[in-house]
Amino acid sequence: MLSDPTDFAAWRQAKQDEVEQALSTWVPADAPAGLGEAMRYAVLDGGKRLRPLLVLATSEAVGGSHGAALRASCAVELIHAYSLVHDDMPCMDNDVLRRGKPTVHVRYGEAQALLAGDALQALAFELLVPGDGSVSSEMAALLCRLLAQAAGASGMAGGQAIDLASVGLALDQPALEAMHRQKTGALLKASVTMGAATGSVPAQALEQLGRYGAALGLAFQVVDDVLDVTADSATLGKTAGKDAAADKPTFVSLMGLTQAQAYAERLLDQAHAALDESRLDDTAILHALADWVGRRAY
Ligand code: IPE
Ligand code: IPE
Ligand code: MG
Ligand code: MG
Ligand code: MG
Repeated sequence: MLSDPTDFAAWRQAKQDEVEQALSTWVPADAPAGLGEAMRYAVLDGGKRLRPLLVLATSEAVGGSHGAALRASCAVELIHAYSLVHDDMPCMDNDVLRRGKPTVHVRYGEAQALLAGDALQALAFELLVPGDGSVSSEMAALLCRLLAQAAGASGMAGGQAIDLASVGLALDQPALEAMHRQKTGALLKASVTMGAATGSVPAQALEQLGRYGAALGLAFQVVDDVLDVTADSATLGKTAGKDAAADKPTFVSLMGLTQAQAYAERLLDQAHAALDESRLDDTAILHALADWVGRRAY
């Protein structure tokens, strides 16, 4: 049981360090013609690593394989990093600042940014299928399937398509929620279900973990919409105020700041309730991660 918030801070730091080290080992520096440098620039040394933390915490909660979970955590982060590289490109959100640094296309050019994203996506799936047999074929296949579904047309990429098609539109709440669940929620939920897939989980627990991941995933993007309005660029490490400037429908534009904040809190309450109903023994870190999503400043 997690008796003290400092236990969570220590756990988080230890796992962030472990993930950073693993990513540094696995993202190649020697890919040709500067591609490796662009890939490492996109991935290393930045970001909260929330998705890897969710994978690792869920795996620990179900007594899963740590080796498989570390690979899964890095795979999800690689998909996330690739989605950010493409999201920032001029053809999408046209952003120049990410994780406190110039965006990949600003630093290396658009073609290299496109290719870095492509290569990061492929590497994610390669990591899930190690050549040394350390992850069983069955588990590797399930992890690939969960990640592919979350990253593709019914998940992140589909959500991003809706996002771009929604500029200037006033979406109603169900439509906005559907977009957020796909573009951001899917990968966060998959982080939880992939963590669960590294162990064996009773059906009841698996269902509730899915509810936890979905609620937390939606709350995360609602908070992202809120922070775009309330935080400054230096704290965010990305340009603040972009959603209104680009006329994107967000939870803030739909319901106002106070209501959006309250909505995120309600979703996080749902996440906590799902964990309680999972009947898993030790969900303290997962509870702490939901709290962290709610009070994050960037
Ligand atoms: C930003 O994600 C993009 C969204 C999906 C909202 P994060 O806020 O997790 O970004 P990093 O990884 O910490 O930089
Ligand atoms: C991005 O949403 C979601 C992704 C799939 C990358 P946003 O466009 O709101 O993310 P930020 O605010 O640029 O990080
Ligand atoms: Mg975007
Ligand atoms: Mg963006
Ligand atoms: Mg945003």
